[in-house]
Amino acid sequence: MLLASRLLRLQLFRFVIILVLVLSYVENGNAGLTSTFVRTQWPAADIPLDNEVFAIPKGYNAPQQVHITQGDYDGKAVIISWVTPDEPGSNTVKYGTSENSYDFSAEGTITNYTFYKYKSGYIHHCLVDGLEYDSKYYYKIGEGDSSRVFWFQTPPEIDPDASYTFGIIGDLGQTYNSLSTLEHYMKSGGQSVLFAGDLSYADRYQYDDVGIRWDSWGRFIEQSAAYQPWIWSAGNHEIEYMPDMEEVLPFKSFLHRFATPHTASKSTNPLWYAIRRASAHIIVLSSYSPFVKYTPQWTWLREELKRVNREKTPWLIVVMHVPIYNSNAAHYMEGESMRAVFESWFVRSKVDFIFAGHVHAYERSYRISNIHYNVTTGDRYPVPDKSAPVYLTVGDGGNQEGLVGRFFDPQPDYSAFREASYGHSTLEIRNRTHAFYQWNRNDDGKPETTDSVIFHNQYW
Ligand SMILES: *[C@@H]1O[C@H](CO)[C@@H](O)[C@H](O)[C@H]1NC(C)=O
Ligand SMILES: *[C@@H]1O[C@H](CO)[C@@H](O)[C@H](O)[C@H]1NC(C)=O
Ligand SMILES: *[C@@H]1O[C@H](CO)[C@@H](O)[C@H](O)[C@H]1NC(C)=O
Ligand SMILES: [Fe+2]
Repeated sequence: MLLASRLLRLQLFRFVIILVLVLSYVENGNAGLTSTFVRTQWPAADIPLDNEVFAIPKGYNAPQQVHITQGDYDGKAVIISWVTPDEPGSNTVKYGTSENSYDFSAEGTITNYTFYKYKSGYIHHCLVDGLEYDSKYYYKIGEGDSSRVFWFQTPPEIDPDASYTFGIIGDLGQTYNSLSTLEHYMKSGGQSVLFAGDLSYADRYQYDDVGIRWDSWGRFIEQSAAYQPWIWSAGNHEIEYMPDMEEVLPFKSFLHRFATPHTASKSTNPLWYAIRRASAHIIVLSSYSPFVKYTPQWTWLREELKRVNREKTPWLIVVMHVPIYNSNAAHYMEGESMRAVFESWFVRSKVDFIFAGHVHAYERSYRISNIHYNVTTGDRYPVPDKSAPVYLTVGDGGNQEGLVGRFFDPQPDYSAFREASYGHSTLEIRNRTHAFYQWNRNDDGKPETTDSVIFHNQYW
């Protein structure tokens, strides 16, 4: 441990010494930009468990790993989740609109699971509903001296002109780069996170360390996720198919630890669902669950797209893990199977944005589609298409696998901007017609907006 921390200090020292920022954009034959910016990185190694970002809250059986997500279809409910390590303890959330007066209470459910020989703590999920819009709520969990207080702000009522700012984070992990992303996001003014899958990277560990690294990640994100909803989608690192350890139930840790409001959108599976928030309709898909024709996810999406009402929620956003358009050699064309099944629906529905992760870099596409593909005639090229979504890859949260800068040269026509740096995005919806989108590279000491676009709504 001593050696590790000394090594780390050395790395940090080096980081400070060689922090040289070189910013240059190279325009190639296409209209797209490939940023050649290379930012000095923190080492792509997980933060040691004894670091303060993973600190266990004081007090016997104190609630830890507190996080919230939207709890219903329209934003008048939250699901509050937490873990008690020693015994089940209280399962009650006390809440109210002013600190120290908790007029209401709600009871949750408790679950626990094993992973190899690791035994989880007691995982609480509590639905708090019937909330007022646009209000600040305080909530208290735990007992006596070990109790803890947090707060959150409910969104505005569903309205086509409601303004709201989402953050978008993917592939976060638990390195110093992950911490940098989280800290930068927390200064961005984002009110809720759309998470594009691959949470903890605990599956990079073995045996009991898998569960231990899920717990540390839960404590790591609490600084944001206890105070604003994170809207979850699952990635490949959530699958955790580990037959060597006799763990073969996909998504076991994820599904025990992270709740989603799937029943509110008539989904039969927590891995795919939809919510409406302010002026946005958000559809979460599961890249690693069946989605071909006639499967539950396919049938559900077909019905959910019919429920979208752009008069009420002008902004239609899809979140998934595997990008459908990406010009990086890493994971190239892994999204083809879903593209073949869903792209024509996305175009027909005039989806505004599709956010994905998986590729550890940033990329934004132009509006293009490839729905005329015909295996018989040979039609096979993506073409500009005003009805198509913009595809955004934000797999640059900062996990221990590091960045991938292996972009194809020349840059394909569909690619508008790409850079291999860590960062996060914000989508500031102003009203029914305008949204200000930014991708923010993690540059310490100054907010660095790197790719910034004003988007016009696809319906209005
Ligand atoms: C869950 O907790 C109960 C009560 O402590 C315990 O008896 C049970 O073995 C645990 N189950 C799992 C799957 O760890
Ligand atoms: C593909 O092209 C063939 C030959 O022109 C045509 O008969 C068929 O309908 C096309 N299929 C689709 C799905 O467009
Ligand atoms: C929406 O916001 C944009 C940018 O602030 C503004 O220019 C536009 O007039 C607004 N549109 C409506 C319908 O309010
Ligand atoms: Fe991934």
